[in-house]
Amino acid sequence: MTDPHAARWLVADEGLAVLGACVDMLDQGRSPLEVASKLRREGLDADRSSLALDAATARRRAARDRLGTHDLVFTRSSLEQASHPAVAAWRAHRSASAARRWDLCAGVGGDALALACHGPVVAVERDPVLVVLLAHNARLRDADIDARLADAVEVRPPASAHVHVDPARRDGQRRLRILRETIPPVDRLLAVHGAVGALGIVLPPAVDVQDPLLADGEVEFVQHGRRLIEATLWRGSARRTNLVASAAILPTDGDGDPDEVATRGRSGPVEPLASGPLGAHLVEVAAAAVRARLHDVIGQEIGARRIDPRRALLSCDQPPPPSVWYAVRPIEAVLAGRAKVVRSWLRTRDDLPIEIRLHGVAVDPEAWWRQVGAPARGPRGRLLELVRTTRGVIVLVTRDEAGSAHPDAGSPRTSGQGR
Ligand SMILES: C[S@@+](CC[C@H](N)C(=O)[O-])C[C@H]1O[C@@H](n2cnc3c(N)ncnc32)[C@H](O)[C@@H]1O
Repeated sequence: MTDPHAARWLVADEGLAVLGACVDMLDQGRSPLEVASKLRREGLDADRSSLALDAATARRRAARDRLGTHDLVFTRSSLEQASHPAVAAWRAHRSASAARRWDLCAGVGGDALALACHGPVVAVERDPVLVVLLAHNARLRDADIDARLADAVEVRPPASAHVHVDPARRDGQRRLRILRETIPPVDRLLAVHGAVGALGIVLPPAVDVQDPLLADGEVEFVQHGRRLIEATLWRGSARRTNLVASAAILPTDGDGDPDEVATRGRSGPVEPLASGPLGAHLVEVAAAAVRARLHDVIGQEIGARRIDPRRALLSCDQPPPPSVWYAVRPIEAVLAGRAKVVRSWLRTRDDLPIEIRLHGVAVDPEAWWRQVGAPARGPRGRLLELVRTTRGVIVLVTRDEAGSAHPDAGSPRTSGQGR
């Protein structure tokens, strides 16, 4: 673990100058190894040089991926765990009416800075290096943040506080997808902080909305553009009245302003939509809405039916009006789920690029792509959608008319759109 003295050096004048110089050298194409050797030759000890180089790498990434954060100080791992500024701003707006905000598991302050836009924040982090960087970032932004080195399950915010907790959802490279595995575990956080007036706990996005731990709250699934980012459990006055599940879609070019965010929710169970014959169009409901189990409601609104009782995919005869809540693709063919059949079918068609999508089917998309004859790949062509149904696997050939229907278009991808 890095020595917090090195962190204090990094955020003082000398360290910040070294950090800036490292960014310049990396920008000029020098390799991290060259930069590290130069720092060591200039007499910096191992802790300081590796922290400065790490922070320089993180700063370059932040400048590329997260507008407005280029001047903050991160380590690489704290940047990977930091909330996207737009998502943090969206979550923070629920604290607007609180007198006092506590941010537990605050990292380098992605959420604390957003919460501080609404008033004073007490930020708690157990890693001493990150507390130093967080305090620096707060000073840089003139944000009213009291950064404290403490354990999130030991502190006791006042009952009237709005408490926001973003537990670690990674342990090294391993993603922690289960509520009881997060650090600290969600059940422990609820046992300690469950009675505060307003509570928001960030959860892994794969969480089951019906998990008994999440009862008495609103589980909000958040999508940034087309990417499902996370879920948040809201309790007390942070919960929207009566909602048990909700979905939010933030535009990728927005800053989390509530006026730009599409939201919808439900206050109880939903009647499942009937399954029926495939229509001319496939309707893929946004992942956040599927996780919140809103796809049946959306399907009812647009007169669609499920293509199978086990899947959240819908179909309809006429294309529904455009909406952020779903993507619509015309269905060109329905084939048996065998690579040989698909290969023969492709031979009879024009040479459009293809993409492979998996819906509940566990095949290696690369191997399957080779088996269907290794056709050219890319957006604005055909999608070969392998769908697990109660009657076995089928392949829906759809047309990707919008192009780049997903940010990773062009590479085989999977969808977890189960029920
Ligand atoms: C997902 S990150 C938080 C990121 C932060 N919200 C941001 O946007 O920058 C989780 C943080 O929780 C911290 N953490 C884990 N267990 C903790 C505990 N028991 N008490 C306080 N902090 C803890 C980790 O050190 C890590 O910095």
